[in-house]
Amino acid sequence: MDRIRITGGNQLSGEVRIAGAKNAALALMPATLLTDAPLTLTNVPRLSDIKTTNELLGSLGTEIASLSDATVMVLSSKELTSYRADYDIVRKMRASILVLGPLLARKGIAEVSLPGGCAIGARPVDIHLQVIEALGATYELVDGYIHAEAPKGGLIGGNYEFPFVSVGATETALLSAVLANGTSVFSNAACEPEITDLAEMLNKMGAKITGLGTSTLTIEGVKSLHGATHAVVMDRIELGSYMIAPAMIGGDVFFPDARIDLIGAFVEKLTEAGIDVKEENGGLRVKASGKNIKPLDVRTDPFPGFPTDLQAQLMALLCLADGASTCEETIFENRFMHAPELARMGAKIDVEGNVATIHGVDTLRGAPVMATDLRASFSLILAALRAEGETIIRRVYHLDRGYEQVVRKLRGIGAEIVRENDE
Ligand code: EPZ
Repeated sequence: MDRIRITGGNQLSGEVRIAGAKNAALALMPATLLTDAPLTLTNVPRLSDIKTTNELLGSLGTEIASLSDATVMVLSSKELTSYRADYDIVRKMRASILVLGPLLARKGIAEVSLPGGCAIGARPVDIHLQVIEALGATYELVDGYIHAEAPKGGLIGGNYEFPFVSVGATETALLSAVLANGTSVFSNAACEPEITDLAEMLNKMGAKITGLGTSTLTIEGVKSLHGATHAVVMDRIELGSYMIAPAMIGGDVFFPDARIDLIGAFVEKLTEAGIDVKEENGGLRVKASGKNIKPLDVRTDPFPGFPTDLQAQLMALLCLADGASTCEETIFENRFMHAPELARMGAKIDVEGNVATIHGVDTLRGAPVMATDLRASFSLILAALRAEGETIIRRVYHLDRGYEQVVRKLRGIGAEIVRENDE
């Protein structure tokens, strides 16, 4: 197990190149199961979750070639040799549930382990199961596995209204309905950029999806899909995470090819806090003094609202605001685990149910802290960049799931950070 050691206080300046989106890639890759033709993905992020997905797809018969330092991936699923997604892989990564739909669509049968809970909440998959039932599939739960079958003639187009917005279940809907007999209409669907990216790629493969970017997706089933080449959309959560770094301690950082349309609500909040965000030369520039940070009231919502995946990172900034801020977390039931770790560094945060009140302080002090989940681990890095003295962050394997080359990227803008073995 590794740990990260940061000495705070350095102003940050320079450039950070953002990778492809983890949460897009994890939905794009299972689409290989829908066709026997090669699917080429570029701008693939180098993350442990991607490796886990490779392992999962490999266990089903997909052949995967990684090129150009693993940023290009060619997936081909000529023959599927299994339709069983094992617990050993699924327990490592909940997004494994996304093979359920394509296995049903391609093979008519699937055995997928239930994912089990995770640190930030119970995260059941009941809506994914309602989606496949809406397309004519039946299933039963046997020994912790979902045993599902499509009708003999294949999945049947159907209509389904989501009871609440679910990113993953919307991805299951797209990955299942594209090969169904007939047309499907999904309403109250998620419209995160990663959903749009998946729909754009499926259409390149010959699918017929309309309503992209809206909460109503219409899919006219087709007989088969061909291959395609698709660039993974940039990671809006990695972008937002790094944009907070200069805001925490002061500096001037440029993000080439950054798309403000992917993080509108987040930029609005950063601007409200007094941080200068400018679009220039096809990217975004963040200039800040690290002082006079204005307090905010933030509520997480499905896109285009403020993303839950940036809540922990923004909270780190609000620890230093001139006054009290609130964060209301509406998506997950247990997503404040970074609060007690930030408190170890001197932050003053009160948590009442799904609302955290952050009382701004002048300084944070370095301390040994523990990463508890992916986004919380970045929140601790941000606090450490500002804190007086040295911070040691343990269990950085959480970080490796969603952030590639963190030490290199932060050193590149002047941070004092090393990664070391934590024996
Ligand atoms: C995706 O998770 C992301 N993960 C999450 O990012 C992100 O936080 C989340 O969407 C919300 O934007 C990936 O894309 C791999 P949901 P997902 O279905 O699909 C409940 C990160 O840090 N729910 O939109 O699992 C669920 O428990 C990760 O990169 C059900 O009750 O999220 C949650 O409370 C964390 N039943 C809410 O809905 C279901 O069948 C929203 O979940 C499905 C979800």
